[in-house]
Amino acid sequence: EFVSEIKGLDEIEEILKRELHYKRVIIVPGDLDEDPNVKSELGRAAAKYVAGILRKGDIIALTGGSTIRDFVDSFPKKDEYGDLTIVPARGSMGKDIEIQSNTLVASLAEKLGASYRLLNVPDNMSERTLEAVLEESEIREVVSTIKKANVIILGIGRADVMAKRRGLGPEDINNLITLGARGEAFGTYFARNGKIVKKAAAVGLSIDDSLKVKDLVAVSGGTSKGDAIAAVRFAGENAVLVTDEGAAREIIKAL
Ligand code: G3H
Repeated sequence: EFVSEIKGLDEIEEILKRELHYKRVIIVPGDLDEDPNVKSELGRAAAKYVAGILRKGDIIALTGGSTIRDFVDSFPKKDEYGDLTIVPARGSMGKDIEIQSNTLVASLAEKLGASYRLLNVPDNMSERTLEAVLEESEIREVVSTIKKANVIILGIGRADVMAKRRGLGPEDINNLITLGARGEAFGTYFARNGKIVKKAAAVGLSIDDSLKVKDLVAVSGGTSKGDAIAAVRFAGENAVLVTDEGAAREIIKAL
């Protein structure tokens, strides 16, 4: 523990890159659990990175969450991105409209003068309802655009927090915890070392789609999320993690 305390951020970036299999890790100083300014810094760092990788014609999928909201808020207002399309990665969930992916999609598109599509379905449907909903031509059309996304920007959450936000009951949450679930991304729950313990029925993008996109940018920070970020693994060669020092030091302990 003492050793990790004295490591510099550059060195920690290299360790996380190697251990969690990211092609790049960007760490902002501080801990957003302690200092709300760090959350804005995290959003700004992610926005700066993403602004550098966008190419003409890209289709960018966003998840919801307060971290991705900060990313959107930090994105510089520019109208040179008119040929981009922004879409939600999945359906909507939770009660808070401010952090729904549809809301963030519209707000980023407005800033960039980009096109956007919305997906007006909940993300927690049963397989049977989902099949019926996907027969609707309007939904099918949006989903086919979402499936063509080549850039994904997503949050990583704690399994317990996200299970609650996704509307799971106490028994299901307990089951997940018993299975060792620690981190959540795309409705997929991960136990230690990237072991997948549950995948939510898919509407839009799933963890499997994440393998084939050009760029996947995960944005997540705070000491309280270290353990969750340490559990999640993306199997492709395309993933970048933007995090903060608080989470990064906690991840090192969790490895
Ligand atoms: O998709 C949501 C993230 O996984 C976590 O949400 O940024 O509000 O903590 P958050």
